[in-house]
Order: sequence, then structure tokens, then C-alpha cells
Amino acid sequence: MANELEFVKSWLKDPGSSARGLPASAYTDEAFWQAECDTVLSRNWVCAGFAHELKEAGDAMPVSVAGWPLLLVRNTGGEIAAFHNVCRHRCLTLVDAPKNVGKLIRCPYHAWAYDLSGKLRASPHFGGMDDNQPEGFDPAENGLRPVRIAVWHDWIFINLDGNAPEFENYAAPLINRLEGVDFSKVSPIASLDFGEIRTNWKFIMENFIEPYHVQFVHSSTTDQPLGDHYTIVDGVCLGSAVDLKQETGTSGSLGVSSRYLTLFPNFIVGRYFPDQLGVYLNIPLGAGKTAQRRALYTTEGQQLSKTDIEGLKKLWWDVHKEDHEMCERLQLGRASPVAEEGGLLSPHWEDSVRAFQELVARSVSDLDEQQTGKT
Ligand code: FES
Ligand SMILES: [Fe+2]
Repeated sequence: MANELEFVKSWLKDPGSSARGLPASAYTDEAFWQAECDTVLSRNWVCAGFAHELKEAGDAMPVSVAGWPLLLVRNTGGEIAAFHNVCRHRCLTLVDAPKNVGKLIRCPYHAWAYDLSGKLRASPHFGGMDDNQPEGFDPAENGLRPVRIAVWHDWIFINLDGNAPEFENYAAPLINRLEGVDFSKVSPIASLDFGEIRTNWKFIMENFIEPYHVQFVHSSTTDQPLGDHYTIVDGVCLGSAVDLKQETGTSGSLGVSSRYLTLFPNFIVGRYFPDQLGVYLNIPLGAGKTAQRRALYTTEGQQLSKTDIEGLKKLWWDVHKEDHEMCERLQLGRASPVAEEGGLLSPHWEDSVRAFQELVARSVSDLDEQQTGKT
């Protein structure tokens, strides 16, 4: 591990740092971002998409995981597969926007074509006029490179290095906390695209798992008193929860008991009692850039009117815009030398944030004894 990352090891080992957050460089430094791509974002199951957005055979979606261009495709067998989104000829990115590719993924540059299982089906004139397969060229060895994928209900996860435990074992702490959800009834009703947020992906995650800010930042959009909240620290499942003594939600504000759960590193699910879920796709794009989309679900098969759905979309849009503003200002604050000390974490409300930061720090410092290396 490069010397410039030694600061994370010192932070982890220094008992005096237990009340401080990660130093600013962990949010701004390009070398740290690269180290995260090589460890945190490639060794674990990283959420990359929503299955319901790939309905038909041939539906294809380009995604970015750990900075790598990948492609999700629904094949003719109805399954979703993941490949590196690059042509085996000159490595052009194959699909640059969500679309249905039909039966073949065709490269726009020299018309090489791959079927939905990734097999190379055409390499026109590669060996000269009308010679598609020159001597020594084996199409079977030049299909799309697959990537390990797990589709859990509506959510698509990628494990780049291929060595993470089976998804359901990895995600057990989260799955256990979703007990009582009948996933056969979970149905998407709307989605929101927040585009790119000028913040490090970790701030988005940390913001979601600490309840401390809720009543201050969301004073007009939520009705969840601080005293009813508590944090959740359970291995790769970190979060916060609120059990309201009284359900007080008025129109246009969130006032129900809720669970805000994450699966390390980037998956977020909000459970809003009695009958809604929200899932966030957080896409780390660089040290200071994260894209976010959110899907809204009902869990009891209930039919909501168009007006109700529009109301929910507006509520969540407003809530998250409030969060994003805070996350962008956390990022801006990292330009200050004061932030090199990491700021302070509440021992009560932000122990979940500390646990999250330790997972990151252990991973980039190679202290979790896993092998680095994407395949
Ligand atoms: S780069 Fe794809 S066909 Fe040439
Ligand atoms: Fe928030």
C-alpha cells in the first residue's frame, strides 16, 4: 500500500482518534480513491442497478463500478448478466446509454457483434476483405468478459474480484433486519434521478446512518424526534432507526417509524412502516463525485393514486436535496486544514459512522487480510 495511505493506518490504530472522523484526505485524495476502487469497491458486493429497469431480453444498461465501465444485460433466458462494457477489438465502450440492443450487442466502431450471453458472433473483415477470422484468431476466446453478479430481489450487485462470500451470506445482517417484508409483494412505483452530487460517496452513506441531523436538516420534511432514534451497528449492516411513540406524519412530511439500513459499501434501503421501501443506488464516480438514483416501492401490493405517487416523489426529492446540500458542504469543508483532523463524531449518534469508516479504513489498509485485485 502506498505510503500516502499510511495516515489511515495511524488513524485506525490511534486510540485518541476514536472520537474523530477519517482525515480529510480520505475524501479528497486521488490515491485514496484509487485504493478504494482496488479494495472496498472491488472485494465486496457493490450495488449497481435495479432489475426492474431491465425488463425485456436485450435490455442493456451501462454502469460504473470502481471506475470500471460495465454492462448489465437481460439475456434470452430471462437472466441478468454483467460484462465489462468494452469491445474485445479495440476496447471501445460498447453501450453508452440504456437501450434495448435486440439480439446482438454491436460495436459501433467496426461492427463486431456479441450475443446476449457475451459470445462473439461477428468480426467482419477482421483478417482482410471477407475474411472474418484470420489465422490464429479464435472467436471463442474473444467474447465479452463476464463479471460476477448477484440479483437479490430488484437489486443488482457486482463483485469485481470474484472472491466475496455468496451474496446471501454476505448480506445476512441486512436480510435478517428486513424480516417481515414479503418480497413477492414489493413493487416499484416510481424513481428519482438525482444525477451527480459533488461529494464523496462516503458522505452519502454516513449521512444516511446517523440520525443526529434529521430534526435539524429535515425540520419541515420529517416529523421524527431525535429522542426516538437509535443507531444500528451490525457488521456490514450499518444504519439508524426510529420507533415513533406516536405516528405523527402530516401530509408532505415523513412521520412514520422507519429503518435506514445499509449494506457495505454502497447499498441503502429505507423501510418506512407500515408498507413502503426506498432503495438508493449510490454510484461512486471519483473522490468528489457520486451519482444517486432512488426507487420507491410499496410492500403490500397496494394501489396508490397518481397524486399519492407524485406526493411521495416530491417528499423524497425535497428530503434528499436537503441531505445532498449537507454532503456537498461536508466535501467543501475538506479543503480546510481543520478537516485533516477529521472532525468529531458523537459517541452516541455517530457510532455507526465510526463503524463505517473503520470498514473502509481496514479495507484500504489491507488490514482485513483479503487479497487485492479485480479480475
Ligand atoms: S472497437 Fe469494436 S469493433 Fe472495433
Ligand atoms: Fe437526512
